[in-house]
Amino acid sequence: MSGGDPTALARRFPQGFLFGTATAAYQIEGAHDADGKGPSIWDTFCRQPGAISTGETGDVACDHYHRWREDVALMRDLGLSAYRMSISWPRVIPDGVGKPNAAGLAFYDNLIDALLENGIRPFVTLYHWDLPQAMQDRGGWADPETALAFAAYASLVARRLGDRVRDWMTLNEPEVSAFAGHWVGVHAPGIKDFPMAVLASQNLLLAHRAAADAIRSAHSAAQVGIALNLSPCDPATDSPADHDAARRMDGYLNRWFLDPLFGRGYPEDMAELYAPYGRWDLRGYHGKLDFLGVNYYARRIVRAGGGPLRADRVDPEGEHTAIGWEVDPASFRRILARVRRDYGPRRMYVTENGAAYDDVVVDDRVDDPKRVRFLERHFDAAASAISDDVPLEGYFIWTLMDNFEWAHGTSKRFGIVHTNYATQRRRVKSSGDWYRRLIAAHREARTTASPTVPRAVRT
Ligand code: FCB
Repeated sequence: MSGGDPTALARRFPQGFLFGTATAAYQIEGAHDADGKGPSIWDTFCRQPGAISTGETGDVACDHYHRWREDVALMRDLGLSAYRMSISWPRVIPDGVGKPNAAGLAFYDNLIDALLENGIRPFVTLYHWDLPQAMQDRGGWADPETALAFAAYASLVARRLGDRVRDWMTLNEPEVSAFAGHWVGVHAPGIKDFPMAVLASQNLLLAHRAAADAIRSAHSAAQVGIALNLSPCDPATDSPADHDAARRMDGYLNRWFLDPLFGRGYPEDMAELYAPYGRWDLRGYHGKLDFLGVNYYARRIVRAGGGPLRADRVDPEGEHTAIGWEVDPASFRRILARVRRDYGPRRMYVTENGAAYDDVVVDDRVDDPKRVRFLERHFDAAASAISDDVPLEGYFIWTLMDNFEWAHGTSKRFGIVHTNYATQRRRVKSSGDWYRRLIAAHREARTTASPTVPRAVRT
């Protein structure tokens, strides 16, 4: 068994702290055309030659659509107190607008009930990148009408599930949707057009606002947030040019989203840089976040360079995961502290953090000591952030089980549970065992704890 005794680590998290895992619909559900589901832009994108390095699609993925009972039982066995999942818009409204699909809604209805029956609090993301293809055909995120359609979809789902789901995230990583999807073209819809990507980013922010309003008018007690991918952006050298480039990268990745969501409008330096590409007037805009979700994987190191940002990324030396991302827990603590200092969110969750490693089954077991170490170091950083007064109330490991990792297909394994794609058998890895022990130790410590825990957390 790898990993030390997690008791000391567990004690550093306050009572009521949520320990969860995160997944996304397209990455696990499969059943791409079952029971009336419409195609999404990922169904289309995966069929473009060369788009997915392994040539795979998410047609089956983890077949969670048919195996959700088993997967909920797995979560219960791990002792999870929360689960971040996403809803597939085209499963619920096949054309993006108009007639809902009763079978799709029923799937989520049953899943939510099962989670609650097992004491697992659902955190629901409405958009984790699987736009209905029909919406793309009408202009996709480059068209502000998509933001309105998204709000109508959010309203439908909130009216249906809001009596049981309290915690909502509108969008997952709008930076990735906008720029990986419309500038770099490595994600669906696979477009390479920087001006269109800037436009998409603005329409995504408008979609967040419209959906947040729709959710709240469906259920006044709803807590609405968003999950942003945030990273410190460090200059490669001390040169003023590299410092400026790092600041632009920070503007692109972090401030372009955080500033408007915290009621400040777009950051001036970036609005100026993007001025040639079109700009909405965001005065009076406010994301009205009840909480901020932070997805953290690694920092960025930046030097002066080319392209619209006049900045290039530099690959740091040191330890990397199997997807090539630096292992850097210190930057995790830094980004959490910086968000608290600069924006003062009311509540925060780590909505994603985790690592890919080349896990193998040996003697019916999957031993993943590197992931255990990764998680120990990142949970330690999160506990330190709490002692820095970061209002962190939960942590969702990416991810529950190995799944369809976008353009990498199933070649990158991030799960704390191993998926055998040929048989769909799930095996808890040693990291899953470690997490189970951490959660149990937290429960144990907190049921016997003195009443001096730092903060009371509502459940
Ligand atoms: C994040 C995504 C998530 C997963 C992880 C590894 O950017 O939100 O779906 O792919 O990266």
